[in-house]
Amino acid sequence: MSFLAKTFSQVIARAGTTTALLSKPRYPTSLTYRLASGQSSQQSDNKEQKKYEYLLVDIKGKNSNVALVQLNRPKALNALCDGLMRELSTVLETIDKDDKIGCIVLTGSTRAFAAGADIREMQNNTLAQVVGAGFLDQWSAVAKIKKPIIAAVNGFALGGGCELSMMCDIIYAGEEAEFGQPEIILGTIPGAGGTQRLPRYVGKSKAMEMVLTGNRIKAKEAHQIGLVSAVYPANQLIDEAVKTAEKIASHSRIVVQLAKEAVNTAFETTLAEGNRFEKRIFHTTFGLDDRKEGMTAFVEKRKPNFTGQ
Ligand code: CAA
Repeated sequence: MSFLAKTFSQVIARAGTTTALLSKPRYPTSLTYRLASGQSSQQSDNKEQKKYEYLLVDIKGKNSNVALVQLNRPKALNALCDGLMRELSTVLETIDKDDKIGCIVLTGSTRAFAAGADIREMQNNTLAQVVGAGFLDQWSAVAKIKKPIIAAVNGFALGGGCELSMMCDIIYAGEEAEFGQPEIILGTIPGAGGTQRLPRYVGKSKAMEMVLTGNRIKAKEAHQIGLVSAVYPANQLIDEAVKTAEKIASHSRIVVQLAKEAVNTAFETTLAEGNRFEKRIFHTTFGLDDRKEGMTAFVEKRKPNFTGQ
């Protein structure tokens, strides 16, 4: 395990955050400081602890193996400014290396998961600037995380917010959630995967309707058309997402990673190639201790003890 991977669990474990407290993070969120400073944990422990600017991070689950990441820019309805997206990718990449964490839940506030890319921030950008800077390129870091991410969406998931939820692996919605790609109203188009992922979730006709009108859909419809896999009362959403995350985290870490990669391959390739890839991954699990342990435990009628090997 890398130094950074160790520090994430240690920082949070030291502060004893096994129960939720989304509004008030109960641990010193010093990870940002360490990442930025590159100091050893001993050195940085002696300094004033610095909080994330745009995120709250907590550890959840009976076995403290679920990371809960909350977007926290309430005044702007979690508009995804550059600083927020940089912080989010850094935190997710660090969690991804933490052996103790088996699944991630990404959420926002009751009012907004995220109302899209920050319109004020990009309002005066020129073509040369956005091309030159590769504007929004760094967002794809979220889709490259190897651990499963469950998006728990309450309130608005619009534009980049809807796209961010679709970069996750499972989407759960609160009853009042609203999804949409309203970029057309702003004179632009989705720029973080909306035109590509949305039709894969909901089919061409519905995706066209949403992208070309900018109309929003409510959670119930999002469920009916397959954009989200479950809808819960808003105040139960995070608990339900954490429950699912705990179940995922109870399985072999390495096999979960392989399963996620196999399913994601379905969106990148032909059926024949995808089936070939799946078969190779399936065969590969036979080289793992965890595969042997899982089947042996079944035969011996006991719970498996996975080691991630
Ligand atoms: N960027 C920057 N600020 C935003 C924002 C955004 N995407 N969405 C909301 N805000 C800000 C508002 O400017 C407002 O700030 P002030 O109080 O300082 O004026 C604050 O959040 C609250 O918003 P509203 O007063 O508008 O709240 P509302 O309840 O009346 O409406 C809303 C809520 C329907 C979500 C409305 O804010 C809205 O339409 N937001 C923009 C949604 C949008 O167009 N998203 C797509 C952005 S482009 C994109 O995402 C490109 C991409 O593909 C990556």
